[in-house]
Amino acid sequence: MSTSSAVTFDLATKDLDPPLAVIDLAAFDANADDLLRRAEGRPIRLVSKSLRCRYLIERALAKPGFSGLMCYSLAEALWHVESGTCDDILVAYPTADRGALRRLAADERARAAITIMVDSAAHLDFVTAVLGPGHPEIRVCLELDASWRPLRLVHVGTRRSPVFTPRQAAALARSVVARPGFRLVGLMAYEGQIAGLPDATGKRTDALVRWMQRRSARELARRRAEAVRAVRAIAELEFVNGGGSGSIELTLAEPAVTEAAAGSGLIGSTLFDGYTRFRPRPAALFALPVVHKPTARIATLFAGGYIASGPPSASRLPSPYLPAGLRLLPVEGAGEVQTPVTGKPARDLRIGDRVWFRHAKAGELAERFTEYHIVEDGRVVRTVPTYRGEQQNFG
Ligand SMILES: Cc1ncc(COP(=O)(O)O)c(C=O)c1O
Repeated sequence: MSTSSAVTFDLATKDLDPPLAVIDLAAFDANADDLLRRAEGRPIRLVSKSLRCRYLIERALAKPGFSGLMCYSLAEALWHVESGTCDDILVAYPTADRGALRRLAADERARAAITIMVDSAAHLDFVTAVLGPGHPEIRVCLELDASWRPLRLVHVGTRRSPVFTPRQAAALARSVVARPGFRLVGLMAYEGQIAGLPDATGKRTDALVRWMQRRSARELARRRAEAVRAVRAIAELEFVNGGGSGSIELTLAEPAVTEAAAGSGLIGSTLFDGYTRFRPRPAALFALPVVHKPTARIATLFAGGYIASGPPSASRLPSPYLPAGLRLLPVEGAGEVQTPVTGKPARDLRIGDRVWFRHAKAGELAERFTEYHIVEDGRVVRTVPTYRGEQQNFG
């Protein structure tokens, strides 16, 4: 059934009052299948930050092919172990949370399940300073910078790890294995400039982005393989993680990589609209009610200023989706408590009608709503809490 109509979502949620958020389950499942198709049987580690809802995380993890969770905070990973969500969790960002580290050290089950990220000896020092010498063994993953640096002073990609060369990776691996209380089990390198950068936006820069991504992928494949070889000579790695929703097939084409990470591709937020490699269906929508009719051509909605993180630009704004043909006013954008929209369908909107939006990013919508209404076959089949709805906020 096609669910891409305002009427379908209006009817499914007619007894609920907006603002509200829904998950189109058929779209979510189709997106999951598409990620798995692109992975061609290789495992996908699920990126929790892009879902932030246990029901959705568990639904994806139940599909063969998704294996393990990539969390964004250690406190979050501990919560998932306690909740029984998953027993293989990589925390993809280094932690400075002393309380969470103490809880990790004190819990044997958590220590077996969770791997923390390090990119320098300073991270090891921090953990030892918090836990004291002689602490129980902590699983660690080494992060390699996957950015593209074609020239001195040119850096294309995220600013994360200082470990760039295979030699630096080997040096850090040696310092991990030389320390008691740590076990090096993984290597991660996330190529944000490929996985998270759309290459088919319709802008003139697309050709340049594609050229950059080709060059970067070629350079990274060589460097990642060399780094993995060097680190494997020092420690037995259980996994080599790379990529994201936008790069699965490219990342997994590298024999050195054992698994890809992905999450956003399940939700299909607007920043993932412009890729040549895949086209996820919009699976998360939110509805706002019309509360003013300032002119015949403008309807003003309640709330809506759910701006996505990242460099400020129009691409970070939520997008009116249904009824099709609405747009934000450039002078107001999406407002703190009011969001005007205009466009042909605005003429027919009346007080109390709904306008459906898409968020720019996949997981951040869950920070705005305490629950998601799961829509299947044109009706709400269940209502599930987001992280916020479970009183969880990990940053
Ligand atoms: C380490 C890491 N891996 C993978 C991803 C990709 O996640 P997603 O597929 O949800 O965009 C990200 C996103 O920021 C990341 O930080």
